[in-house]
Amino acid sequence: MTQDEMKRAVAKAAVEYVSDDCIVGVGTGSTANFFIDELALIKHRIDGAVASSEASAQRLKSHGIRVLDLNVVDELPVYVDGADEINRQLHMIKGGGAALTREKIVAAVAKQFICIADQSKLVDVLGRFPLPIEVIPMARSHVAREIVKLGGHPALREGVVTDNGNVIIDVHGLQIAQPVEFERTLNQIVGVVTNGLFAERRADVLLLGKPDGVQTIT
Ligand code: 5RP
Repeated sequence: MTQDEMKRAVAKAAVEYVSDDCIVGVGTGSTANFFIDELALIKHRIDGAVASSEASAQRLKSHGIRVLDLNVVDELPVYVDGADEINRQLHMIKGGGAALTREKIVAAVAKQFICIADQSKLVDVLGRFPLPIEVIPMARSHVAREIVKLGGHPALREGVVTDNGNVIIDVHGLQIAQPVEFERTLNQIVGVVTNGLFAERRADVLLLGKPDGVQTIT
């Protein structure tokens, strides 16, 4: 299987977690796009979707899937999204597509987080993928200085403005041994909107695409 075939396989497997007549939380990125395309095949069975980005909302709408504002949704049984890195405790780094804040919000509401990823995303220790942090623009330099104190190497993601009008700082050179604690530490820095560690709210299920099929890790 190619990487795209593995992404398609996990997206198909994720559809099994979608129950009839529910609102589905939908993530962002190339793997999530495969899921949106699979969701289109069963769109008559669901009530609609909540999207974690404008890009995913557009793709859902292009398939004729109703997109709802999260504020009008009482219950979100399942959220399906990809990851940039995931460890065996199902802690993740997310935000490669700059959608981390809305992803974290939708994930917080959802009962179950299903992570879909090809095998290249599974790591022993998080941090080889630069950790994205969404920052209020006027706090950019302050946040960068605080990150250096924590041992990271911050780099502004050039030319990127998030759906919320903020900037992204990517933090290189980390080896995140304690993801829950580090997520909390980063949240203490004034000016940080969201950091891309999804550890306090980790995934509940990982559907991992491998050359010989989909492995389910819980
Ligand atoms: C977007 C994300 C994505 O889930 C992450 O970047 C993975 O994307 P892809 O499926 O394209 O590898 O967090 O902000």
